[in-house]
Amino acid sequence: MKVCISGANRGLGLALTSVFLEQGHQVFALYRHKGKEFIELEQKWASPDSASQLIPLACDVADEIQIRQLKQEIESKTKGLDMLINNAAVHLEQQRPDLRALDFSIYGPTLTINAVAPLMLVQHLISLLRKGAGKTIIAISSEAGSIGSCWRDREYSYCMSKAALNMGFRILHNRLAPEGFKLRLIHPGWVQTDMGGTNAHLTPRASAEAVYKRSMETYQASSISPEQLYIDWEGQTLLW
Ligand SMILES: NC(=O)c1ccc[n+]([C@@H]2O[C@H](COP(=O)([O-])OP(=O)(O)OC[C@H]3O[C@@H](n4cnc5c(N)ncnc54)[C@H](OP(=O)(O)O)[C@@H]3O)[C@@H](O)[C@H]2O)c1
Repeated sequence: MKVCISGANRGLGLALTSVFLEQGHQVFALYRHKGKEFIELEQKWASPDSASQLIPLACDVADEIQIRQLKQEIESKTKGLDMLINNAAVHLEQQRPDLRALDFSIYGPTLTINAVAPLMLVQHLISLLRKGAGKTIIAISSEAGSIGSCWRDREYSYCMSKAALNMGFRILHNRLAPEGFKLRLIHPGWVQTDMGGTNAHLTPRASAEAVYKRSMETYQASSISPEQLYIDWEGQTLLW
């Protein structure tokens, strides 16, 4: 299977990339900056020939010009993609400021990267996904995007961006399911990454293995109903 994963250079995206590679899939791995761990993965899996299992591609997912170039680069290497995993995201309020101390300059970038960029990637890669076998589009969402079970009294920007991502994917489902596409919004659990912090419950590897299973279930399903669209890493449905 040919899968494209955004934010593949660290955190959950890096762990997911490793799991897909180990399971024998070809990964088009999108990165902005290559860290040490990503370079190690490249040394193990990437090769200059067209059959390389790991194909690293530079792409800032908030930049539509770079996404256009990305499409051309992928097209030069394959006729179709079977799965897209929108994983890249930011949480720019790590200090969790209260209402009186909000910095609104981070709201635009947060909404662009977390909610708009996944839609841009789908728009530009849809012709490749139409030619693939799986017709599977995943977005790594969060329970933080659930309005129905919201408990936080801060983290507005991140929660708003994930709720917007969910709505975008709900509309995409209406548009693409009749063509046989299967979409999924997956909350990966609380994960020990730069975003999740060291107190989180799951290692990136444990979360990635669970997200891999949910992604493959989606790939193998004949269709996904709106009720099955928003789930967590264990497959439990979440409140919108
Ligand atoms: N960690 C958790 O507890 C948790 C919980 C719920 C949901 N999630 C979701 O899980 C996904 C992965 O999160 P994580 O914990 O692995 O976060 P992370 O460690 O902060 O990694 C974020 C990744 O997104 C990339 N990224 C950010 N902005 C980008 C841009 N404009 N263009 C391209 N790549 C960009 C980063 O690349 P750079 O290295 O270039 O910045 C990095 O690879 C996210 O969607 C997140 O919202 C995480």
